[in-house]
Amino acid sequence: MALDIDQLRADTPGCDHVLHFNSAGAGLMPIPVLDAMQGHLVRESLIGGYEAHHAADDDYRDTYAAIAELLGAKPTEIALMENATRAWDQVFYGMSFNPGDRVITAHASYASNYLAMLQQQKRHGIEIDVIGNDESGQVDTEALEAAITELTRLICLTHIPTNGGLINPAAEVGRIARKHNVPYLLDACQSAGQTDINVERIGCDFLSSTGRKYLRGPRGTGFLYVRTESLDLIEPPFLDLHAADWIGRNDYKLADGAARFENWEGFVAGKIALGAAVRYLLELGPESVYEQIARVATLLRTRLSEIPGVTVHDLGREKGGIVTFSHVSTDATRIKHELDRRGINTNLAVPKWARLDAEDRGLPTMIRSSVHAYNTEGEVDRFVTAVREITDR
Ligand SMILES: Cc1ncc(COP(=O)(O)O)c(C=O)c1O
Repeated sequence: MALDIDQLRADTPGCDHVLHFNSAGAGLMPIPVLDAMQGHLVRESLIGGYEAHHAADDDYRDTYAAIAELLGAKPTEIALMENATRAWDQVFYGMSFNPGDRVITAHASYASNYLAMLQQQKRHGIEIDVIGNDESGQVDTEALEAAITELTRLICLTHIPTNGGLINPAAEVGRIARKHNVPYLLDACQSAGQTDINVERIGCDFLSSTGRKYLRGPRGTGFLYVRTESLDLIEPPFLDLHAADWIGRNDYKLADGAARFENWEGFVAGKIALGAAVRYLLELGPESVYEQIARVATLLRTRLSEIPGVTVHDLGREKGGIVTFSHVSTDATRIKHELDRRGINTNLAVPKWARLDAEDRGLPTMIRSSVHAYNTEGEVDRFVTAVREITDR
């Protein structure tokens, strides 16, 4: 069903203030998200933080239900976290690695994830198998399958990278992981809210995401999905009195389900607002949102490619809302600065944030212009005109 873009924009106060092509940084929050968060903060100030949580427990619980509905999972398979990195870390640092154990990843790997792999390599002597791309630029699934050995302990795939439009074939990788019985951790930080992350279709054991990007929740929120059958593959790297029960002087019992990966203390207003963000997406219809994002991004790519000296760098058979480009003679930092001055939000895509890919392709620092369903063709026009002006000088 086609979206009512005027209504979407009316729901999004930021649309009146900025031309926001930075949803891969943080999406603009819609009014229900803001209301949920502000409402809870007011409640905390009036009756006390613990009491406010108690009073809003249904809304709090609904965040688990909403995320589970989006993923096709159970609420008990969801842990609420402070961001995507810590969600991912719970799984990665929760694996018990031995020297020689192997981890498979791909060129799109995000810096923080790869840093964790390097640290575990130093600590435990693991080997990292980096799988190259196929001719379209997505992960080469044949090479990935061929790299699996009896020492492979985990496949870590970034669904959509920080630095481009690529959508990796997560479900195809899932089929391979299942076939070879290798645990599969999907970084869905950029894909949650912009493409399908149904965990049954994808076949992953674990999935991490942030709240603030395409889901349009508040900053400082995120979540981890852990398949019930895969819970015992990992030991939570940290325990507190929420994650485990201290049942005897020398004994403890892990919490049931994904709660064992959570902290007791957290940003309750943000977690409730994250639930509101996911409900908002579910009401719009995730499919319609994905289609609209892809439509605007395709237009943006086409129009940018027509500007003399501009190269659009996005890879992949299927592409999402992140559009990265550079100009032959105008530095990306200057382009971003000039866009900022015109009230246009973008971000830089710095090579070291996705070093494997950047080195492989010799990428410069690029402009990352990431669109959402609330962006319009008119905004694409305004953006392209501004880039032309800036790079024409
Ligand atoms: C692909 C990818 N994974 C993980 C992250 C980390 O997310 P967070 O900042 O919520 O920890 C990012 C952030 O930009 C990202 O782009």
